Amino acid sequence: MLPYKDILVSEIDAGVVTIRLNRPDARNALRNRLLQEISGVLEQIARDDSVNAVVITGGEQVFAAGADIKEMAALDFIGVMSDPRPGYWRRIAQFPKPLIAAVNGFALGGGCELVMHADIVIAGDNAQFGQPEINLGIIPGAGGTQRLLRTVGKSMAMQMVLSGEFINAEQARTFGLVSEVTLPEMSYSRALALAKVIAEKPPVAVRLAKECLLNSYETTLDTGLKLERKAFTLLAATEDRNEGISAFMEKRRPIFKGQ
Ligand code: HXC
Repeated sequence: MLPYKDILVSEIDAGVVTIRLNRPDARNALRNRLLQEISGVLEQIARDDSVNAVVITGGEQVFAAGADIKEMAALDFIGVMSDPRPGYWRRIAQFPKPLIAAVNGFALGGGCELVMHADIVIAGDNAQFGQPEINLGIIPGAGGTQRLLRTVGKSMAMQMVLSGEFINAEQARTFGLVSEVTLPEMSYSRALALAKVIAEKPPVAVRLAKECLLNSYETTLDTGLKLERKAFTLLAATEDRNEGISAFMEKRRPIFKGQ
């Protein structure tokens, strides 16, 4: 992998790569460069058949403090209009493989929105999630008004976005923003273990399952069910499907090849 400045990218380990946000002095504030690096490495990983899942994580006390407010301060109306940031976010959202976030400490503003770009979220019990943009006279700009509402429901999304108040890890779990809460020192290892489990599954089925689940954000139930059926049918043409079924019948472990 290329050298990066704002992120650390691990070697491939059992089909899993870890991306660690690495601007501790700025509390992992998501400046343009950092977002560009995340979207760039994800695009690279999307094309790499030896990687089947990605873990994204931050620091022990801060996952990410949101957009880089100092960078944002320099942008006027025209600057915001021509900001490359939405393109980076779109590319992160389009990453086709499982993305698992391990979150300790603050995940605020764009940091909380980055968490919502992950498919599965494991939180340390010191995690805090918030959309404090309202305190800056702005609103969430990377999906916070949309994904948060779809994730935690109207009342809690309104509460978080309008008041800027944070919720803790346990509340986030109750409201479906995270799937598991661990001790802070365990969140990364749990996310990595989960990523490794998923990385062993048949990759085409994993990819189509992710696509179908995300489709539920964007379509009616009827259209979503049709897309699910098409994906289900498509999988009947894969070798991994035959291997999975044969292995079950023969009482052995399947060997998936991603075909
Ligand atoms: C730029 C930031 C920053 C940010 C912290 N820093 N957050 N710089 N952008 N979002 C910088 C501080 O200026 C300071 O720099 C250094 O990091 C340490 O910050 P402290 O506040 O002293 O740290 P701490 O006491 O540990 O508090 C951590 C924190 C707090 C709770 C996360 O920093 C905080 O509330 N940050 C802002 C959170 C926020 O409002 N996020 C929303 C951003 S808007 P110096 O140079 O003084 O050492 C947003 C819009 C998204 O996300 C739109 C779509 C992309």
